[in-house]
Amino acid sequence: MSHRDVHHPFLFEIAWEVANKVGGIYTVIKTKAPVTAQEFGDRYVLIGPLNSKSSAAEVEAENVTNPHMKEILDEMKRQGVNWMYGRWLIEGAPHVLLFDTSSIAERLDAWKGDLWKVAGIPSPPNDQETNDAILFGYLVGWFLGDFVARERSKAVIAHFHEWLAGVAIPLLRNRHTDLTTIFTTHATLLGRYLCAGSVDFYNNIQHFSVDEEAGKRGIYHRYCIERGAAHCADVFTTVSQITAYEAEHLLKRKPDGVLPNGLNVVKFSAMHEFQNLHARNKEKIHNFVRGHFYGHYDFDLDNTLYFFTAGRYEYRNKGVDMFIESLSRLNHRLKACNSPMTVVAFIVMPAATQSFAVEALKGQAVTKQLQETVKDITEKIGQRIFDKAARYTGGDISRAVIDPTELLTNEEKILLKRRVIALKRDSLPLIVTHNLIDDVSDPILNQIRRLQLFNHPSDRVKIIFHPEFLSSNNPLIGIDYEDFVRGCHLGVFPSYYEPWGYTPAECTVMGVPSITTNLSGFGGFIEEILENSSDYGIYIVDRRLKSVDESVDQLADHMLQFCQKSRRQRINQRNRTERLSDLLDWKVMGMEYVRARKLSLHRAYPDSFSGSDSGEFDHHKVKIPKPLSAPASPRIRGGNVSVDDLTDGMQQLGYEEEEYPFPLILRRSTSARDLLSEGDLGG
Ligand code: UDP
Ligand code: G6P
Ligand code: GLC
Repeated sequence: MSHRDVHHPFLFEIAWEVANKVGGIYTVIKTKAPVTAQEFGDRYVLIGPLNSKSSAAEVEAENVTNPHMKEILDEMKRQGVNWMYGRWLIEGAPHVLLFDTSSIAERLDAWKGDLWKVAGIPSPPNDQETNDAILFGYLVGWFLGDFVARERSKAVIAHFHEWLAGVAIPLLRNRHTDLTTIFTTHATLLGRYLCAGSVDFYNNIQHFSVDEEAGKRGIYHRYCIERGAAHCADVFTTVSQITAYEAEHLLKRKPDGVLPNGLNVVKFSAMHEFQNLHARNKEKIHNFVRGHFYGHYDFDLDNTLYFFTAGRYEYRNKGVDMFIESLSRLNHRLKACNSPMTVVAFIVMPAATQSFAVEALKGQAVTKQLQETVKDITEKIGQRIFDKAARYTGGDISRAVIDPTELLTNEEKILLKRRVIALKRDSLPLIVTHNLIDDVSDPILNQIRRLQLFNHPSDRVKIIFHPEFLSSNNPLIGIDYEDFVRGCHLGVFPSYYEPWGYTPAECTVMGVPSITTNLSGFGGFIEEILENSSDYGIYIVDRRLKSVDESVDQLADHMLQFCQKSRRQRINQRNRTERLSDLLDWKVMGMEYVRARKLSLHRAYPDSFSGSDSGEFDHHKVKIPKPLSAPASPRIRGGNVSVDDLTDGMQQLGYEEEEYPFPLILRRSTSARDLLSEGDLGG
């Protein structure tokens, strides 16, 4: 390798989800962009696919200013490659380069042949995803190869995410391209497939015959791409310890380090603004619920809690099976203890649908009509009260005040009755808001049917399956996902396979308590840094050492405990949850990316660094103690003491929780490690 400036390198970050929303990788790239753009400025370019639907909305085209890039991209265009260069319209406004793989499809066969020749990676004819990955990989390899041939002074780091972006890595290695590569995998293909079946994955991870298992599932060629990328990269990383362990066994390379996922944490200037947002968005959910349960709306919304799970439809991996089973147990327990609470549990997971269910639309329509009629009538009543009073010209004053029994006219009474009659229905409130194409064999619906969670008036747990991602344009529940999360009380994500799992992390930064598992990367991360995470509103279900039945029970217990909290306790818990958000900020988490890049530069350009600087990853784990408002040890108080007890006591003495000596240094610390060195955390 040549000598290059390793202190001001170029960084290309390559992923299929750049400006292209699919799942959590989009969230990684998008939320990390502000810190990375700040670090690299114009030397940072993200590379992704050009998508005819979303690219125009996500990216603003601009001229290519870097002369080397311009030369290369002009030449690629001459050869038929369609691309778009511009600024991604997100915070940090990073440069993006998007390649249209379909524009160069005529080279597919030649490139497939080459991939087999240079890397021994086969590719069957009809796998569109793999074809795209190959076209994308060859375009990226072409671009980067030409770039380092022209840019001779500065080092270049190419950081790839996930197998779909990984084809270029073995190519660059084979061509001895003068740059350094990082491959971060956000899962393993085989792990995801094995877990989705009924395999006891974690107890057998060391014993799988990987090639055979991949072959049986028809993903051998994809597996080869993933494994090739992992082995050919200078630095190989994953997003969590559990996925590192999995990668070591299934991809046969031990990762060099773990790059946990962060978020771009936005703080409101008013501390309690997130609480107000909860109340405002909950009101929107209330509106939907009134309509959905029309004719059966006999529960008290003031004593109703909104639970939800959301994500890509992976029934077993995302733990929806466990969620529904636990909801059924929760339903029995709430009934048994005559609880005044009602739980409405939402499942937001896209599935193939034909249309909205007519009944669901009708419910919203009839309640809206009722609401409008009531508004109309109230306005008229107001006008009549005013008129009557304004006409007072002296004499008996009581004649100026309308007789309450005459507030409504006969026409208004009839109109109101007609609106109320429209609310009558013979059927129970729907368990699903859409007509599913595969209604008969849909696993979520079938489990709800088996457990008979049919939204009966006697049920304390009601279920609504919304098989489409949420958006403010939705005619049923017009609310964006973020606002929906804010309006809910508890996110429930009992995943079996979850390399990281953004959904509970996103709840945390919005101050919404959530449940995750010790099989998810996020759950494992939280267990490592927090002593009593449930006090902070992050409940962790043990799916590692407990039997399925025990885990289901534990989940039901957590939900029941949550239902037993008072409003004050829920508000306090949300405050504690929100205070953790700094820990998940990329300003802290991004440090691991900095380390990975340094290691990759070391590996490719060892002579450019001074002797003492090894570049190796360096991990020191510290734990953040339970909140100071929590009892020192449950045993001292005896019995099952929760943090709420002490908080309640303090409040009875006239303290607001904000005044407690909570480790406020969370707000300004830069890493979990700094937390302890800043001293007195008590605890
Ligand atoms: N998400 C969304 N709308 C929804 C549900 C989920 O935009 O209705 C987003 C969510 O905010 C998160 C991502 O989808 O950022 C899912 O990422 P996660 O890491 O939880 O799972 P993945 O899909 O990557 O396996
Ligand atoms: C926020 C609001 C309060 C409201 C509360 C409801 O904290 O600021 O005004 O009373 O939410 O909380 P709940 O858990 O009952 O939805
Ligand atoms: C993957 C995983 C998910 C993770 C995301 C971002 O799609 O399924 O658990 O959060 O990548 O790393």
